[in-house]
Amino acid sequence: MIRARITGTGSCLPEKIRTNFDIEKMVDTTNDWIIARTGIEERRIAADGEFTSDLATRAAERALEMAGVSAAEIDMIVLGTITGDYPWPATACIVQENLGADKAYAYDISAACSGFVYALSCASDFIQAGRGKKVLVIGAETLSRIVDWTDRNTCVLFGDGAGAVVLEAAEDSESGVLSSHMHSDGSYLDLLYQPGFGTRVTPSVENITDHIPYLKMQGNEVFKVAVRSLTNVSLEALEANGLSASDVSLFIPHQANKRILEATAKRIKLNDDQVYINVHKYGNTSGATIPVAMDEANRAGLLKSGDVILLSAFGGGFTWGSTLIRW
Ligand code: UT7
Repeated sequence: MIRARITGTGSCLPEKIRTNFDIEKMVDTTNDWIIARTGIEERRIAADGEFTSDLATRAAERALEMAGVSAAEIDMIVLGTITGDYPWPATACIVQENLGADKAYAYDISAACSGFVYALSCASDFIQAGRGKKVLVIGAETLSRIVDWTDRNTCVLFGDGAGAVVLEAAEDSESGVLSSHMHSDGSYLDLLYQPGFGTRVTPSVENITDHIPYLKMQGNEVFKVAVRSLTNVSLEALEANGLSASDVSLFIPHQANKRILEATAKRIKLNDDQVYINVHKYGNTSGATIPVAMDEANRAGLLKSGDVILLSAFGGGFTWGSTLIRW
């Protein structure tokens, strides 16, 4: 049996830090409120002239370097993003060109904060089907460009960043992606979405003046569904593999809000030391949170051979999913 193994991880965070104190000067909020309600202390903001493809390319280069794989060997690039450089073509194609991954075919996945686990699921299926041997899976966002910096309900939450993994085919391997469980429910669109610019809301002076195109969220409602869905999809992964919470070495959830992570971990019955949290440093970077956290955990030596790693994400769509990995 062929399994998809992660052989390299990489990440890239913009240098510029925007603290809660910086945001206090922009909207009616406080450092205390943001920390108490979200756990976020600061986030990274892409520089002028720095785009999602740039962050994605640097994260991918670092993952390739760790894996000892050259860009020319890559069969496919899948990029989870909702903040591509352009509406089209796919930002994955720009990354392909940047890397010189001439053999790869490249496409984006739009699944908001679940973008990386959706992309990982596609890539793992591709490898297991024997269609290719080496794949780059990336989550990359510059959310600072679609956030309304006059809306205190949303602007305090988000940040920019990118993470990537190299997946390689391994014959008869115990380690690799064990399972993927992905879900969607389009009935919740109004709770979390970006109205413009697509083909429903097209550019006009009026809608820009009214701040219509920017990200919209009814946070309180999203919160409840997020905790329920992250819990259910995490338990689904464990049950499908005949495992229980005590078997999980590290839970790496989508980092949206520390309270969501703690509530979810409690429901799954995980201890604090089984949960990786870095939302305080980067805020919610949507599709990038999980691969950034994986890379940090990996480089800190927290992911050891044989470990069971549980990834779970939830985001706009709604979309949600879990991936169980044996490291
Ligand atoms: O990535 C996946 C999708 N996203 C998420 O999973 C995010 C889910 N939601 C959340 O993280 C939380 O709902 C928020 C952090 C967005 C909000 O926290 P909350 O505890 O749900 O607050 P709330 O929306 O119920 O607002 C409570 C109060 C309101 O004031 P009133 O109506 O009680 O007077 C808000 O106007 O807090 C006010 N508020 C703020 N106050 C200071 C909202 N944003 C701010 C702010 N600073 N930035």
